[in-house]
Amino acid sequence: MTLPDLPYREDIYGHVFMDAWRGEPHPYYLRRDDGHVEEGPPVLDGELGDPPDRHSEVLSRAHGRVLDLGCGPGRHVCHLQGLGLEVVGTDASPLAVAVARERGAKDVRVMPIEELSFAPESFDTAAFFSGTIGIGCDAGGLAARLARLGGVMRPGGTLIAQVRDPEATDNPAHTSFHEMRRREGRYPGEMGLRLEYRGHASEWWHFTLVGPELMREAGEGSGWEWVELLFEPADGFALLRWSE
Ligand SMILES: C[S@@+](CC[C@H](N)C(=O)[O-])C[C@H]1O[C@@H](n2cnc3c(N)ncnc32)[C@H](O)[C@@H]1O
Repeated sequence: MTLPDLPYREDIYGHVFMDAWRGEPHPYYLRRDDGHVEEGPPVLDGELGDPPDRHSEVLSRAHGRVLDLGCGPGRHVCHLQGLGLEVVGTDASPLAVAVARERGAKDVRVMPIEELSFAPESFDTAAFFSGTIGIGCDAGGLAARLARLGGVMRPGGTLIAQVRDPEATDNPAHTSFHEMRRREGRYPGEMGLRLEYRGHASEWWHFTLVGPELMREAGEGSGWEWVELLFEPADGFALLRWSE
């Protein structure tokens, strides 16, 4: 298979996945716009592993034709295929999509969340795992994102979104950041992020750590009916139903 030949800057996430997939994992770092830096969780145990039990439990709620947005190297796509479901994975990273194909994902496409191009009523289930619901999006833009997604859902379709209450932490590096955001009149989970890997840095992107309350509000404001929160607000899954 010919792999996309992209410089680090253009597809840095993809290089993290591809190097690890090829047996050469390296640490990567996420830098927040206040300067705080954290090492990213190891992809061999995460995106390149099997979905953890909680994810499998949530995925048992998927039905019909499924869309996995920001699918990365395809662990959920492959899991759903194994359950006999028809599933389409989309991701902005050509290298992540290439890894997903090598892992056996049948239908994965390079397509950023912001540029969804499917016919109306194409899907029965849509899923966002590992924070992808808030990638490239501020809190105020979430309802518009969900409304656009609704445009490709069949009536009664299910949305599964991993959510995390940004304020469920007592780490001072985070609590002081949240206070700063509140003083600015912004949602505490809103940030700028960039990824740093092997001496290279990505462009900055907008990211929102979406908590269950924000998810409910944005969903109900955009044609989605709230169904329930599975597990705890600090690390759970929001389920909504397309009701337009
Ligand atoms: C943390 S990984 C999660 C991957 C996958 N959902 C999982 O849990 O295994 C985030 C993924 O989002 C993708 N991504 C980043 N920006 C994106 C965008 N604007 N549209 C679609 N995917 C995006 C990255 O390429 C990466 O594969």
